[in-house]
Amino acid sequence: MTDRPVTDRIELSQPDDWHLHLRDGAMLAAVAPASARHFGRALVMPNLVPPVVTTRDAVAYRRRIMAALPQGTSFTPLMTLYLTEATNADDVAAAHAEGVATAIKLYPAGATTNSQSGVRDMEKVYPVLERMAAIGMPLCVHGEVTHPEVDIFDREAVFIASVLEPLRRRLPELKIVLEHVTTRDGIDYVRSADRNLAATLTVHHLFINRNAMFAGGLRPHYYCLPVAKREVHRLALRAAAVSGEGRFFLGTDSAPHADAAKEAACGCAGIFTAPNALACLARAFDEEGALDRLEAFASLNGAAWYGLAPNERKVRLVRRPAPVAYPGRIETDDGPVTVFDPMLPLHWEVER
Ligand code: DOR
Ligand code: ZN
Repeated sequence: MTDRPVTDRIELSQPDDWHLHLRDGAMLAAVAPASARHFGRALVMPNLVPPVVTTRDAVAYRRRIMAALPQGTSFTPLMTLYLTEATNADDVAAAHAEGVATAIKLYPAGATTNSQSGVRDMEKVYPVLERMAAIGMPLCVHGEVTHPEVDIFDREAVFIASVLEPLRRRLPELKIVLEHVTTRDGIDYVRSADRNLAATLTVHHLFINRNAMFAGGLRPHYYCLPVAKREVHRLALRAAAVSGEGRFFLGTDSAPHADAAKEAACGCAGIFTAPNALACLARAFDEEGALDRLEAFASLNGAAWYGLAPNERKVRLVRRPAPVAYPGRIETDDGPVTVFDPMLPLHWEVER
C-alpha cells in the first residue's frame, strides 16, 4: 500500500547548473565530463588563480573548457567575470554585449576559496554595478560577510541585512542572484522581494545540516561555504526548492578539490556533486512528493530568470528498485576527488 502513486520515470527538459566550479588544467579535464553528461548549460564560476576578470580572460577560459569537454557534447559553458575593485565598467558592458559573460560574480574578499581578489569596499564597485543595472546584466552574489567578529553561522543573515538590502535599495534595477542560499532568513528575504532577486540552491544543502560535518569526527567532505546550517534551515531550503516558485533554481556549487587539500589541517571548502547531483535531486523531490516540480527547479526557472529558453533536449530519470551505484571518487592528475555522499541510497538514475 502506498500513500501516493509511485512514479518510476520522469522526463524533463535537460537541466542547467546555474553555479558551477570547473577549475582549470588537470582538474578541469577530470571534472568537466561529469557536468557535461547531465547538464545542458552551466554558469561557470570565475574564482581561478588568477581569477577570470576581463573579457579576454573569459574568452580564453571558455576555450579551455570547450577543449576539456568530451567529443560530441552539446554542453554550453556560460561565463562569469570576477568582480574586483579595479573592474572596468566598459569591459563588463562589452563582455555582456558580445555574449562573452552572462553575469558578474561578487565575492566579498576573504569569503571563500580564491576570494582574495574580491571586494573589500562596496563603494568602489558601484560604477560597475550601476552600469550592470542599466544594461540588465545580472550580479551573482556570494552572500556572506567576512568580519571575524561575525559568527560563521550568521554570515549570510548579516550579509543580507548589511550589504544586500542597502545594495537593492540603492540599485533596484540591478538583477541579483543570492547564490547558494543556506538559511531560512535567506529564503524569506528572497521571497520578500518584489522583483529582480532570485536565489540558487545547491544539492548538498538539501541533504546535510551542520551535524554532518561533525558526525563521529571531523568530516571535511561536508565542509563548504556557506557552511551548512541547522536542520530548520535545511527544511526551509527544501521547501523553497520544491515550491516551484520561479525565483528559486538549481546551482549545484559543485566545487571539486583534491582529497589531499580537503583532508588537511586547514581543509578547503567545497563539495563535489556533479556526478550524482541529479540522482540526489530526484531523491529529494521524490521524498517531498514533488517530482512534478523538479523540472521547474532544475530546468525551467533558472533559464527563464536569465532570459533563455529551456533546453530542447529531454532527459529521463528512472527509479531503480535497487540502489544505483555511483563512483565514490574520481581520479584526476591532481589526485582523487571524493564525490558527495548524501548518506542515503540513491535509486534514481539518468537513463541513457
Ligand atoms: O564551498 C565552496 N567552495 N564555496 C565557495 O563559495 C567556493 C567553492 C570553491 O571554489 O571551492
Ligand atoms: Zn561556488
